[in-house]
Amino acid sequence: MSNFINPELVPKKKLYTGEKIPCIGMGTFGSDRFTPEQVSAAVAGAIRCGYRMFDCAACYGNEDLIGEVFQAAFDEGVVKREELCIMSKVWNDMHERVEESCRKSVKDLKCEYIDIFFIHWPFPNYHAPGCDGDSRNPDSRPFSVEEFVNTYRQCEDLVKKGLIKNIGISNMTIPKLEAVLPKLNIQPVACEMELHPCFQQQELFDYLVAHNIQPIGFMPIGSPTRPERDMMPEDIADIQTPEMQAIAKAHNLHPAVIALKWAVQRGQIPIPFSIHELEYVSNLRCTLADPLTKEEMDSIATLERNNRLVKGQVFLWESAKDWHDLWDEDGFIQKA
Ligand SMILES: NC(=O)c1ccc[n+]([C@@H]2O[C@H](COP(=O)([O-])OP(=O)(O)OC[C@H]3O[C@@H](n4cnc5c(N)ncnc54)[C@H](OP(=O)(O)O)[C@@H]3O)[C@@H](O)[C@H]2O)c1
Repeated sequence: MSNFINPELVPKKKLYTGEKIPCIGMGTFGSDRFTPEQVSAAVAGAIRCGYRMFDCAACYGNEDLIGEVFQAAFDEGVVKREELCIMSKVWNDMHERVEESCRKSVKDLKCEYIDIFFIHWPFPNYHAPGCDGDSRNPDSRPFSVEEFVNTYRQCEDLVKKGLIKNIGISNMTIPKLEAVLPKLNIQPVACEMELHPCFQQQELFDYLVAHNIQPIGFMPIGSPTRPERDMMPEDIADIQTPEMQAIAKAHNLHPAVIALKWAVQRGQIPIPFSIHELEYVSNLRCTLADPLTKEEMDSIATLERNNRLVKGQVFLWESAKDWHDLWDEDGFIQKA
C-alpha cells in the first residue's frame, strides 16, 4: 500500500470563519524524549505522506528545525504555503510580549503567517524546562480575566497585522470562557484541550461546539510517551482497556488508531504525535474509510474516567491546594 494519502480526500472541518481545515493534524511535542531532529524529520515525512496540519509551539523547542523542513517542502514544490494549516502557541512567559513571540515563531517556522495562533495556557505561570514536578514558581498566580484579555488583545492586533489568521485558546475551562468570551473582539476559532477515551470532557466539548469553537484534542492516544512528570500511578492507559483492544481487533488496527477514529467521528480534531512513519501514515489513513459502528462509539463513550493526564501541577501558585485548583472543578474560577 502506498504511503501517500491524497490530502483532498482527508475530511475537513469548517471553522466559523468558513475556512476548512483537515479533520486530523500532527503533534510536534517531543515530550522530552524525542529530539528536535527526530520530530522535524517526522514532519518532513508527514508532509510527503499527505498531512496538511501541524501543531507547533514555541515551547516545544523545535520550531526552527520544523521551519527548515517547511522551507524545503515549499522550495521543492511538495506543498504550497497556503495548503498547510500551521498552528503555533505563545508560551506562558511571553504573555506581555505576544508579538515578539509570534514574530519569532513565524521566522523560525519560515511560514510568513500562522494559521491558528494559540494562547498555550490561560495564565502567565511557567516553570523551568525539566524542573521537578512539585516545584512552585513564586511568581505564579491564579487566572486573571484582565491579564488574559490583555494577552488576547495582543493576538487580536496580530490578526489585524496579518501575522496570524486566527486565534486559538488552550487549556481553558467553562468558567474562564464564560468570563472572557464576551470581552473578546475576535472570537477564537479553536480550543486545544486534552481529549482521549478516558478523558472526554463532554461538558466543555459541548460548550465549545455551542459557541462555534472547534475542539482540538491533544494527547488523543492517551500520550503513552508523555514526560515522566505527567505520569501518575493512578493514570489509566486508554489503549490498553479491553474495550479499545476488542474494537482494534475487530478492525485489525492498533488501538491507538481506534482512539483517533473515535476522535474524528465524535467531532474533535485529534493531533497525534509519532516519529514512526508506519504509525503516522496509519493515523492519517484511518480518517478515510472503515468507520466505527454506533455500538463501538457507544462502547468508547463508556470509557470516560475523568483521567486528566496533564494536571498542570507545575503552574500552581504558592497558596494553591493542588492541581485541581487550576481546572475550576467547582464551577468558579479559583482565587488565591
Ligand atoms: N495545548 C497543549 O497544552 C498541549 C498539551 C499536550 C500536547 N499537545 C499537542 O498534542 C500532541 C499529541 O500529544 P502527545 O504527543 O502527548 O500524545 P499522543 O499523540 O496521544 O501519543 C503519542 C504517542 O502515541 C504513540 N502512537 C502514535 N501513533 C501510534 C500508532 N498508530 N500506533 C501505535 N502507537 C502510536 C507513539 O508512541 P511510540 O513512539 O512509543 O510508538 C507516540 O509517541 C503533542 O505532540 C502536541 O502537539 C498540546
